[in-house]
Amino acid sequence: MKLLVTGGAGYVGSVCAARLVESGHEVVVLDDLSTGHADAVPDGVRLVEAGIDDAIGEVLAEGFDGVLHFAAKSLVGESMQDPAKYWQGNVVTSLRLLDAMRAHGTPRLVFSSTAATYGEPEQVPIAETAPTRPTNPYGATKLAIDHAITSYAAAHGLAAVSLRYFNVAGAYGRFGERHGVETHLIPIVLQVASGRRERVQVYGDDWPTDDGTCVRDYIHVVDLADAHLRALAHATTGEHRVYNLGNGLGFSVKQVIDACREVTGHPIPADVAPRRAGDPAVLVASSEKARTELGWKPERVDLAGIVRDAWDFTRSQQGA
Ligand code: UFG
Repeated sequence: MKLLVTGGAGYVGSVCAARLVESGHEVVVLDDLSTGHADAVPDGVRLVEAGIDDAIGEVLAEGFDGVLHFAAKSLVGESMQDPAKYWQGNVVTSLRLLDAMRAHGTPRLVFSSTAATYGEPEQVPIAETAPTRPTNPYGATKLAIDHAITSYAAAHGLAAVSLRYFNVAGAYGRFGERHGVETHLIPIVLQVASGRRERVQVYGDDWPTDDGTCVRDYIHVVDLADAHLRALAHATTGEHRVYNLGNGLGFSVKQVIDACREVTGHPIPADVAPRRAGDPAVLVASSEKARTELGWKPERVDLAGIVRDAWDFTRSQQGA
């Protein structure tokens, strides 16, 4: 297939673009490089350096079999401070994309949605049937886009799949997590191990969990990318399907820090800090639906293995 990957110079987008190319697809990346990196675009892939608002019509006019839409603002904290950036940058931009796809007859869409669409869960593991009550504008904007996709699929015959990611981690060779502002646990802990940060703060140790720290479902970015390939193959005209993607295994903040100590051999000093606003105690996915309907199964579920891949990437960046 000829595929457009928006946000393909970012973390998840670049790994997916690389896996798509390896699977024989023709890939074009559309990225304004506001948070992505030109050198993260896989070899043999054309980069159109522009925003969706400016270039989507012209690009889709070339004729594509599908779009994988990763381009988005994705910092929960920032979305609380500056919601307009998220409603404009995520919702309005995605509507532009949907309209351009309709105008140019682009038949398939795979969308990066998020566990943040669910908010504080009533039950874990979280299934796709769980109530969607996002607790921050980031999650609200992703949910709004999911709703828009549902109605475009029904009205205009789009074949669409939304994938709701839990905590994406790990790396794929030279493709990994490189954020200007880093807020995610594993890269922050690895910054300590690589000497770029003194200590890590643990946001609360009085949560109702076994060791008192928050539990999350860390999914390897390569498993996540493989789910995108399956989603593309299963996308059905006129339907919008939604799948949660996680390991189904929860690891606490303390377990993550311990795994990083084991992998890096660094003591990684940690301090307990106050809870972070908006953090639920436990977020673990039920990925049963993806397993059953897409035939997807996460293969890289070992936490130390996920951390090792992220660590290899961190060290390669230092050597770069
Ligand atoms: N944490 C720390 N110290 C840090 C950073 C994080 O203790 O320096 C803790 C957090 O409190 C949380 C856990 O580590 O308990 C994981 O935090 P991340 O920031 O890595 O990830 P989140 O679970 O907050 O966020 C992830 C995605 C978001 C998505 C959200 C869905 O990164 O994009 O899941 O709820 F919105």
